[in-house]
Order: sequence, then structure tokens, then C-alpha cells
Amino acid sequence: MLTITIIGSGYVGLITGICLAERGHAITVVDIDEKKVRAINAGEPPIYEKGLQELLSKHAGSNLHASTSYASVSDSDVIFIAVGTPPLPDGSADLQYIKSAAEQIGIALQERHVPYPVVVVKSTVPPTTTRDIVVPAVEKSMKDPFGSCMNPEFLREGRAIEDFMHPDRIVIGSCDEEAIAKMKQVYAGFDAPMLVTSSTAAEMIKYAANAMLATRISFSNEIGNVCKKLGIDVYEVMQGVGLDNRIGPAFLNAGVGFGGSCFPKDVSALASLAIAVGIDPILLHSVIKVNDNQPSIMMALLEERVHDLSGKQIAVLGLAFKDNTDDIRESRAIRIIELLREKGARIKCYDPMAMEEVKHLFPPSQEISYMSSAGNALDGADACLVLTEWPEFAELDVEFSRMKTQIIIDGRHILSIPHAEGLCW
Ligand code: UDX
Repeated sequence: MLTITIIGSGYVGLITGICLAERGHAITVVDIDEKKVRAINAGEPPIYEKGLQELLSKHAGSNLHASTSYASVSDSDVIFIAVGTPPLPDGSADLQYIKSAAEQIGIALQERHVPYPVVVVKSTVPPTTTRDIVVPAVEKSMKDPFGSCMNPEFLREGRAIEDFMHPDRIVIGSCDEEAIAKMKQVYAGFDAPMLVTSSTAAEMIKYAANAMLATRISFSNEIGNVCKKLGIDVYEVMQGVGLDNRIGPAFLNAGVGFGGSCFPKDVSALASLAIAVGIDPILLHSVIKVNDNQPSIMMALLEERVHDLSGKQIAVLGLAFKDNTDDIRESRAIRIIELLREKGARIKCYDPMAMEEVKHLFPPSQEISYMSSAGNALDGADACLVLTEWPEFAELDVEFSRMKTQIIIDGRHILSIPHAEGLCW
């Protein structure tokens, strides 16, 4: 059992903390947000994530505590940095929170009670950040030896606890034997291959993995756009493609494109990084371009079917960037709503979880209203767009008979009714 402090109680920090608490370690999560800290200590999840409530009820107040202070750092065997790296206007990652967390760790470690603490970067950071920014920032105030490591996360929202507990691999980016041994203790009992690399390779693995997944989606979308013109079902095509062992079936689902807090941000950050070192990121830019274009392709198809959108009532089913989350960051639905509004359409939305978030961006008005069920959103609609792969949308059937006109465009290949039209299939 190790004593571990995690700086940052956002998505990654909290999930890492709760899962390592479940593994028997003693965890403190540190955050500047007092409200969040109070909620965690009271056993109330500040975000929605499947299984989080149960684990928080089990561990909050026993082997998981939250605090606004760095005091626990001086007693910790391992200190994770899991703060945000939001995008700057040019797409590159803003590292100010990483640097400030590392500096504060250094200050806290001036009075340390552990002979060789290990500072671990969990946040997604551009290659060289751990070596050239984090380590020097800790050393600024602390001259005694300490270990460092980069340990990327590969968590999907909505399935993050499952992904943490049953990872495909654990990447340990460090060339320090003592730090590597400590990380093996952190992950003792996990049934997954462990890959030890340089810290810079570990940083790049995270970006490259996300860029690869995003590329597969944009690739499927481009093939899907061609298939649509030729009257071919891209889902049949990708089934045939994915059965090739060298390719595999995952992340080939064509549709309205990828959103979320990782793919758009990380692909842009990697492209900026490429430019910074004199490489033109032709492929990465295309991945982003294909993705940015999918909402316009959906609008073009809708206009082909409805003709003039002005004053038409459009049901928008699904607002979250994917199912099982209330997260709307980079959700394709936001762009689609903007485009519908530009065309003067009246929008009736429904999402099982994300409506409150969208209301902040588009307050309820004559033009946009938020309905209590998919059926109510469909009532009297001239057309319907499906934008999130919520499993409950697969059950919809008679609800569509409430529409004025049966124009139904599925952007996620989730509907099971025969008369829905696929966006690119
Ligand atoms: C992703 C990575 O999967 C995870 O490993 C990383 O740590 C963080 O980023 P997440 O953003 O939670 O996770 O969502 P994910 O399930 O990967 O989906 C991302 C987006 O891609 C969603 O908008 C989803 O709808 C879309 N998607 C996914 C597709 O359009 N097609 C697919 O085949 C798969």
C-alpha cells in the first residue's frame, strides 16, 4: 500500500484517485476548487461517471480524502499531476497549470518525510514536458533527489473506471529504476502488459494513440461520404475492412464526427507540435478537416430533404458528445444547432443527460426548446437529426409517428427503424 497524492480532481485525477483507492492505496486528491473538495469528501461525485458514486461512497473519508492544500505531498510515496492542459488559440497545449502544480510540489517537498518521492505526470502533455518543464519546476525549490515518470491515461468517458481497472496496457515513461519500481507497486495486481519507455515516448504515445483513433474515424467518415453518393452502406464496408486482423473493427463507425475533451484537442496539439518542429502535419490537418466538415454534410443532406429550413421544426436527438455522459465539449450537436439557427429553423432538443449543459449555451427561447423525452421532441417535427449514440434511441419506434413529416437522418447508426436515412450510409 502506497501513500499517493493526486494534484487535480478533474476527470483524470478523480478517476485515478478512486481506482487506486479501490486497489488499497491511501489517496489524497488536491484541488483549488473548494466546492469540488467538499463534494468529494461528502461522497458526492462532482461529475457523472458510471460506477463513481459507489466507489466514492466506499472510499471517501476512509482511504480517499480531498483537500485544497498540498500538505499531503510531503508524506507521499508518489505524487501524480493530473491538472488540465487546455488548448491555446493556436491549438497548442497550455502548460501553465502543469508548471504551477510542479512548482508547488517542489515547495511542499522541501519538508518531506519520504526518502525518494516520485512525481508522475498523468496529464496529456507535449513530448519533453516532463523532462524539461516538470522536473526543473520541482527542482526550483527542492534540491534533494526525487524520481520522475510520465504515465499517460487512456480512459474513455463513461467507461473510465472500467478502463482504469482493466487497461489494455500501462505505459511507464521513465529511465529511473527506482521510479519504475515504485510505479510497478502503484499498479501491482493490474492484469495488463506494462511498457517501460522514455518519458518523451510515453508523452508521444498518448498523442499518437488519440490521433490514430481520430484518424480511423475521419477515414471511415470520408469513405462513408463516398459510399453515400454511390448508394453503398459504409457499415457493411467497414465490417469487411475491420475483419482484417491487421486493421481490427474498433473506431470505424462513420457518422457526424468525433467530439469530446480529447480527440479534437489532442490532434490539434499534435499538429501544432509538428509545425513547431518544421513538419507540415498534412494527415492530422485532414483528420480535423474531415471531422469539422461532417456537420455541414449533415445540414446539406437535411436541406436536400426539407428544402427551405426557415420556420421548420427540427427534432435534435442527442446533445452529449457521445453516450453515457453529460459532457458536451466539442459535441457535434453544438455546431449543428448553430447551423440550424442560422437557417431559421425551430429546434426541439432531447438528451437523457446533457440538456442542462446545452441550455447555458443556447437558453430556451422561441427558436430552441428542451423536451422531456424523445417522443415530445418529435411531436409535429418536419425532420429529425440523431446526433448521439444513446442506446435508448435504438428503442425508438412509434414515437416517430408523432412527426409531421418522416424525414429522419441518423448521424450515429443507432436507429433500428427501416425508414431512417444514414448520414453517410
Ligand atoms: C478518448 C479515447 O478513447 C481515450 O482513450 C482517451 O484517453 C480520451 O479520448 P473519449 O473522448 O472519452 O475517449 O471518447 P471516445 O469513446 O473515444 O469517443 C470520442 C468521440 O468519437 C465521440 O464523439 C464518439 O461519438 C466518436 N466516435 C467514436 C465515432 O464517431 N466513431 C467511432 O467509431 C468511435
